Amino acid sequence: MAKLIPMVVALLVMTVGLSEAIRWDRQPEKPTILVEGVNNTGESLKLVWTYVTEPSEFILRVTFQRRRDDADVAEDIASNFGGGPFTVFSKFISNYSASLPATLILRNPVTNDDEFIYSIVVSFLRNDRPEPILSDQVQLIVFVPPRITTEPERESKVSVGENLMLTCSASGDPLPEVTWNKEGQTLRLFNVTGPVLRLVNVTREDFGSYKCTAKNKVGEASRPSLVNIACPENQCEDHEFGIRITSVRWRQAFNNSNAIEYKTLKSAVALEIAKIYTQSQNTEKQLYGITIVEFREGSTIAVVRLRFERNISDPLKPLEDAIKDGILGRNIRVDTQLLNTTIHPPPPSTTILLSRIFSAMHPPRPSTTTMHPPRPSTTRPRFAFTISCFPSYMVAHIARDSLPSGADVSLLHLNDPSCGVSYVTKKSVIIKAPLKGCGTVRRNIGYKMFFHNKVVVPSGYREKRSLSVFPFKCVYSRFGFP
Ligand SMILES: *[C@@H]1O[C@H](CO)[C@@H](O)[C@H](O)[C@H]1NC(C)=O
Ligand SMILES: *[C@@H]1O[C@H](CO)[C@@H](O)[C@H](O)[C@H]1NC(C)=O
Ligand SMILES: *[C@@H]1O[C@H](CO)[C@@H](O)[C@H](O)[C@H]1NC(C)=O
Ligand SMILES: *[C@@H]1O[C@H](CO)[C@@H](O)[C@H](O)[C@H]1NC(C)=O
Ligand SMILES: *[C@@H]1O[C@H](CO)[C@@H](O)[C@H](O)[C@H]1NC(C)=O
Ligand SMILES: *[C@@H]1O[C@H](CO)[C@@H](O)[C@H](O)[C@H]1NC(C)=O
Ligand SMILES: *[C@@H]1O[C@H](CO)[C@@H](O)[C@H](O)[C@H]1NC(C)=O
Repeated sequence: MAKLIPMVVALLVMTVGLSEAIRWDRQPEKPTILVEGVNNTGESLKLVWTYVTEPSEFILRVTFQRRRDDADVAEDIASNFGGGPFTVFSKFISNYSASLPATLILRNPVTNDDEFIYSIVVSFLRNDRPEPILSDQVQLIVFVPPRITTEPERESKVSVGENLMLTCSASGDPLPEVTWNKEGQTLRLFNVTGPVLRLVNVTREDFGSYKCTAKNKVGEASRPSLVNIACPENQCEDHEFGIRITSVRWRQAFNNSNAIEYKTLKSAVALEIAKIYTQSQNTEKQLYGITIVEFREGSTIAVVRLRFERNISDPLKPLEDAIKDGILGRNIRVDTQLLNTTIHPPPPSTTILLSRIFSAMHPPRPSTTTMHPPRPSTTRPRFAFTISCFPSYMVAHIARDSLPSGADVSLLHLNDPSCGVSYVTKKSVIIKAPLKGCGTVRRNIGYKMFFHNKVVVPSGYREKRSLSVFPFKCVYSRFGFP
């Protein structure tokens, strides 16, 4: 029993000693991990320490330092004396600040380059005598999600027997692993690791949509790449059609092959179609190439050209089957009916014209009439005004005796004043308006194309001049059916 007493005393002494010493109250998370793009966004990072002191203790100096993981020597970033404000060393002024009692602030959005071991050193007096320093350190780890640095071709074309190399490099921290796969095929059949995909001695079966994926522990990025196989004209044939994409509203950028919107939609559509034809049950429909010819309004129509081996029966069936439920791929909503893109309107004798004769014997009311003296007659003249719509132009046919009195037939013109009458006969004036030019304005609405122009009829003299304006239009179906 007697032997136990000194031990109890010793424990008591130790407890008293601990409660008197300076100690950390709060420390940064160790390690402190940031993910670029996730929690380094504009905010500054604060490494916060706080400490508890006893009345007998006096803080002499607090210093922040940093060193790389593999370096022995640390650099001083900032320090203070006797509880005064921190001074940041000039080299670090734009990157760090420090606040009391012991917070180090990384002022700029943290990047990979800020990966240091940050330490704090506190020297202090106890009962006016210097004591050993109090220190702590924290490692800052910055992860960077993968970023593709070298993109594979969005689209390439290769001949049978040739080789093709596609490269897809990525940066990131940790360094991402790049893998390739072929859409519509299982990994078992196609499994390539590394930034370079080599297709050697290419065959028809290599047609398809490939995808490289760069992945690390904090994210992934991927890029698609369409591989078309060259096929001579006499071995293959093209099938062109339109797909109406109802989930994509028309934008002017879709008319510009350099626009990113155009490129993105183009590869999305091409890749989804490629996927369908690389599924094993469809490979006998030998597809060699996909071309997205253009986009047209309504909502957005993709004009697609597929190149198949000749004599394939019903080559579009796999696609038609795939879009039966109105979805191409996972999220492109489409009409289930493919469209015939033969847009050149056939001759007016066929049914393509929706309104061949727009207005006959019935002029629209003149839209402007200025300083026109009241007509002597009480009945308005009835203008004989006929419009014929042809594949590439419109013809306005006006009976001369129906023109306003005083109208000089040679002065009639179209929306563009430089486009005058085409010919004048005894009875009529004929003005031809091309679909492109002479001020013809085109509007696309759904399946229809409207071409607007107007005949301007100047009449009268000097102050008594007036203008009668007769707008007209032709309507064409865009795909050969009304
Ligand atoms: C930043 O985000 C990562 C992942 O979301 C998380 O693990 C980490 O703790 C965050 N760091 C901070 C300082 O909030
Ligand atoms: C300060 O940050 C910038 C980038 O924000 C960096 O280029 C520079 O090297 C940093 N300076 C120091 C001393 O760390
Ligand atoms: C794909 O290849 C990688 C590396 O070569 C291998 O670790 C993985 O198991 C393969 N996956 C399949 C499904 O074969
Ligand atoms: C390419 O493939 C064809 C058929 O698959 C084969 O006959 C030919 O020898 C191959 N060429 C080379 C260079 O491997
Ligand atoms: C697309 O551009 C062409 C020429 O650049 C132009 O003629 C055509 O009207 C445009 N189409 C649409 C729908 O904007
Ligand atoms: C295949 O196409 C060629 C050229 O178009 C034609 O001459 C031939 O008769 C076709 N063969 C069959 C089996 O349809
Ligand atoms: C598209 O329409 C044109 C003209 O009406 C016709 O000749 C052609 O066969 C049609 N194409 C398809 C694929 O139906």
